Amino acid sequence: SAAEKGGFDWFMRKEIYEQPKAVADTLLGRHDASGALRLDEIRISQAELRAVDKIIVIACGTSFYAGLVAKYAIEHWTRVPCEVELASEFRYRDPIVGPTTLVVTISQSGETADTLMAIRHAREQKAKVLAICNTNGSTIPRESDAVIYTHAGPEIGVASTKGFLTQLVACYLLGLYLAQVRGTKFGDEIAVLIEELDKIPAAIEGQLGDMAGVLQLAADFAEAPSVLFLGRHVGYPVALEGALKLKELAYIHAEGFAAGELKHGPIALIENELPVFVVMPPQGRDMLHDKVISNIQEIRARGARTIVLAEEGDADAGPYADVMITLPKVPTLLQPLVAIVPLQIFACELATRKGHDVDQPRNLAKSVTVE
Ligand code: G6P
Repeated sequence: SAAEKGGFDWFMRKEIYEQPKAVADTLLGRHDASGALRLDEIRISQAELRAVDKIIVIACGTSFYAGLVAKYAIEHWTRVPCEVELASEFRYRDPIVGPTTLVVTISQSGETADTLMAIRHAREQKAKVLAICNTNGSTIPRESDAVIYTHAGPEIGVASTKGFLTQLVACYLLGLYLAQVRGTKFGDEIAVLIEELDKIPAAIEGQLGDMAGVLQLAADFAEAPSVLFLGRHVGYPVALEGALKLKELAYIHAEGFAAGELKHGPIALIENELPVFVVMPPQGRDMLHDKVISNIQEIRARGARTIVLAEEGDADAGPYADVMITLPKVPTLLQPLVAIVPLQIFACELATRKGHDVDQPRNLAKSVTVE
């Protein structure tokens, strides 16, 4: 009923608007006033966490894309090698896993069969398994050594939104906690990042209050047969997730690419009128910002429609962008938390215009309990 949906047309839209609270709830109580992390719920000892020499993140679907972001943050903050793998691929390739491997699984439902089978395999090899999960008492946390719960609240729309954002938050908390325990980041550096995380709910609130431009885009591109998404660094998983949302909800062909790969194939797809979303890395991020600007120029020169998501104050893409979408200024590694929001709204709105059931897309299930 409309009341259950809080006055929104879809649970998904309601859940998108709940993201500021979901992020704040997931941060709540996990650090003290000085910015030191308190993840006492992780029942893996600090000595064991210090002995970890490899991290493997395992998940499916949207949760896998949260895992891709986690790799950038975890390796940067902890210097521990981190791989990310689809659960359905992991156990069938005889992976190298042992007692000093930390396997991190990410699952909103806690019931995904592929992820569960991967956990069983990892534990048979004596790895420690830490679950990031949104569902209390579900199978995956029960079968893991430890769990960090995300506090998104129940997610009903089949396409994950607040689930994804809170998974990102849990991954950042885990990365910073490992850095704290292993001493690879100093307390004040961690405190600064925690402060930045604490500002995210207000930043998303601000974005959600100003979505007219994105709604208009959905109207403009409702008939597009195909949409591409480009991103680099942590913008790359955002591009993949933006494309997945559009496939799931609008049933149109959508693909996410690493912007640096454009010249190795995807540029052949660029043609007149093709909508291409580009997630700009924040300014001053090595040379990446300028490289992505060149990508946008190349795409535009071939007649595509460019929709550029760039942080506040970054107008460099302006001359080559058909549409600019402004993102709040946040540290680079945290950018996915704000960059995905307009793409969620875009997919939800476009599917609504096409008359699809946004909460229950065809052929999909909220949790897939068969391998
Ligand atoms: C299904 C859902 C996706 C979800 C994936 C993983 O395919 O439709 O939205 O991302 O499962 O689910 P999990 O509960 O393990 O995060």
